[in-house]
Amino acid sequence: MKSLRLLAWLAVGSAAAACSGAGDGAPDGEEPEATASPAQTVITGEGPAIRAQAAALFEVVPAVAPELADNPLTDEKVELGKMLYFEPRLSSSWLISCNTCHNLSLGGIDLMETSIGHGWQKGPRNAPTVLNAVFNLAQFWDGRAADLEEQAKGPVQASVEMASDPDRAIATLRSIPEYRDLFAKAFPGEGEPVTFDNMARAIEAFEATLVTPGAPFDRWLAGDDAAMTELQVKGLEVFVSKGCSACHAGVNFGGEGYFSFGVVQAPPEEIRPAGDLGRFSVTNTEADQYVFKSPSLRNIEITAPYFHSGKVWSLEEAVSIMGSAQLGAVLTTDEVTAITAFLETLTGRQPQVEYPVLPPHTADTPLPDVSVPTEAAPH
Ligand code: HEC
Ligand code: HEC
Repeated sequence: MKSLRLLAWLAVGSAAAACSGAGDGAPDGEEPEATASPAQTVITGEGPAIRAQAAALFEVVPAVAPELADNPLTDEKVELGKMLYFEPRLSSSWLISCNTCHNLSLGGIDLMETSIGHGWQKGPRNAPTVLNAVFNLAQFWDGRAADLEEQAKGPVQASVEMASDPDRAIATLRSIPEYRDLFAKAFPGEGEPVTFDNMARAIEAFEATLVTPGAPFDRWLAGDDAAMTELQVKGLEVFVSKGCSACHAGVNFGGEGYFSFGVVQAPPEEIRPAGDLGRFSVTNTEADQYVFKSPSLRNIEITAPYFHSGKVWSLEEAVSIMGSAQLGAVLTTDEVTAITAFLETLTGRQPQVEYPVLPPHTADTPLPDVSVPTEAAPH
């Protein structure tokens, strides 16, 4: 389905700008005839047409966690996964947990250009949010992990992140009797439930609950005209007619495919550093140089800074760069303002997470190790 959508977009190219509606015939940039007075937020006239068009491209975030293949969600598993998500003793320093870089008080990110991990080492990329990550076709900017379970094993071992390893992580968890009980309840019937795989499964189960339903856009799509302002609806129209939705569609407004960052025009070197070839490092295919997963635009208003380099702090600037880099279009200030106003309607209800109390360590728990290897390898 997504490739069809892209093909349709490629076929019309940026001439898509000339056909704003699904058959409504209104030229791009023209105010709808029957627009309500500026004080009113209820849209008449074009409203239903753009809503039908939006309904074909996007989906609302479901209110409950989606089912996972091969990893049924149970209360016990989700609760254990939450503890592990906040568990700093999964890092060798006992300082860093998943929540350090994917802070659930901050939209699931760390507000850093690129993340700071073990021993104050600076990683190579910006941390994407964990919110709604369950809906992405694969994980990481380059898609190198197929799902959240596979992904969760990465940071624990990455020398610039948590700098631990599977043996140490499992020795830590097995040394704490409460964890042995909680793993046994979350993975009933398994001879030795405390394993690295089960750790990752529990974290994945918790992450699946980190969805943000009820965003203004979702309420508007469901028929609540007052949920979006006139400017925001205009922004949606520009977003679709310019072709942004070719790569940012579906439930996550992204996360469905891989695209060159610089389809039409290479972004400045500072924003797309030459050292990061993106998906090329996964596929070794020349065509994949500077190709990245199109990120989700859900909650984008609160997850600055932007791009895999984290070099752009202003959402307006990110939108404008996308126009020139991906579409070869110089967006006007009004268009950028409208699109940005629209993107702000994608901020949903943030997960209400009760901070877990973690069980105490024992004499058998490997003690913290804060030494930093001198040849600090990139991950
Ligand atoms: C030191 C900071 C740091 C820590 C700790 C960390 N992450 Fe990340 N996380 C990142 C960065 C940076 C990326 C992007 C890396 C890349 O794409 O190459 C990332 C990517 C992700 C993604 C992919 C999201 C997407 O849309 O592609 C998920 C999910 C995630 N991390 C979950 C976790 C979990 C679970 C933990 C704990 C086990 C964790 N992270 C620990 C920094 C961190
Ligand atoms: C051809 C596909 C494509 C098109 C068209 C496209 N984007 Fe993107 N978008 C991407 C990719 C790929 C990235 C990730 C770039 C990177 O950092 O490597 C991205 C990143 C972004 C980001 C930053 C997200 C973040 O979390 O850092 C925003 C905002 C964005 N796009 C908005 C838009 C808007 C608005 C439009 C239309 C003007 C648009 N995009 C058009 C593929 C596309």
